[in-house]
Amino acid sequence: MSSTTVTTAPASTVNLSVESRKMTFDGTDPVYGDWRDDLVRDGYAVIKGAVPRERADQYADKMFALLESFGLGYDRHDPSTVHPDKLPVVNEKGMLLNYAAAHEDFVWAVRGEPGVYGAFEKVYDTKNLLVSFDAINYGFANREHLPENRPWPHQDQDPAKPGFRCLQGLVNLQPNGPDDGGLIVCKGGHRLSEQFHCDMADEEAHPGLDAGVYLADAGLEWVKPSADPGDLIVWDSRTPHYNVPTKTQQDRLAIYTCYMPVARDLLRKKDAYERRVGTTHWPNARHTGWNEAKRDGKPDHVVRTRPLNDAVLSERVFKLTGIPYIKDDVQVPVDIAGM
Ligand SMILES: [Fe+2]
Repeated sequence: MSSTTVTTAPASTVNLSVESRKMTFDGTDPVYGDWRDDLVRDGYAVIKGAVPRERADQYADKMFALLESFGLGYDRHDPSTVHPDKLPVVNEKGMLLNYAAAHEDFVWAVRGEPGVYGAFEKVYDTKNLLVSFDAINYGFANREHLPENRPWPHQDQDPAKPGFRCLQGLVNLQPNGPDDGGLIVCKGGHRLSEQFHCDMADEEAHPGLDAGVYLADAGLEWVKPSADPGDLIVWDSRTPHYNVPTKTQQDRLAIYTCYMPVARDLLRKKDAYERRVGTTHWPNARHTGWNEAKRDGKPDHVVRTRPLNDAVLSERVFKLTGIPYIKDDVQVPVDIAGM
């Protein structure tokens, strides 16, 4: 890996070519003979060993160490320290959204794993990808002091823009069986998305069509995928999903990884990167976060605006920020062969 490529980029964005050979999910995709067939059929897939086990264990160690670094009392070996007073602010769904956590070195290392971004390269059929600066997730066991994680089935795509648009993902870093906490998906729900929103369009404020009932009536079921450390779970943004708390003593650790083809409006992305703030899972930085947490509605006494361990990005990984695609007043088509 080369040394850091954090460079100063000029001010305007490139007119990028549109990729046209990506997976379509419209019945015209070929048979791939791998996880892509699962993805087309079910709306989600588990990609085994996207991150080698040894490195997955190292990332998990760093993820626990990040919590311990705040010095509030959390100790991964002491379940009684899973307490809001001893932790930075982690929301009820397990998201660590603030404190520049989205830019910790181990988070970037996961984004830069070839087996991770390589999966998205296959789906979109391009190496010109932008990655989200998304949250990391701590699905703690021993939740007695933590707020309840209630089910929140949802999809992450604007119904006004149908068809396949975005593939979401997470890298799982702990053993994760059927009773451990984590992602649950509505198998095949991506195929009903358009019809669902069409049927719901004329409903008033209190829809007569409950989403859960609708999906059940369609014969769909909720599935909790199992995963080993280093496995990448991907899902079509149209597939309904949420996360469930664990029923075991096993913590669940996950790093969200979502990539899309590079698009315009990269200056917002550059600004988010330079300020080390997060985005949603959508990589385009239309909505950016902040590093200052709120604890019980007030500014947290813990302030961290830069990562504990800032990342040194290779040339390949720095491209995932989108910044190298920014050019000064030059309309440059992307040369895939040269990337
Ligand atoms: Fe979501």
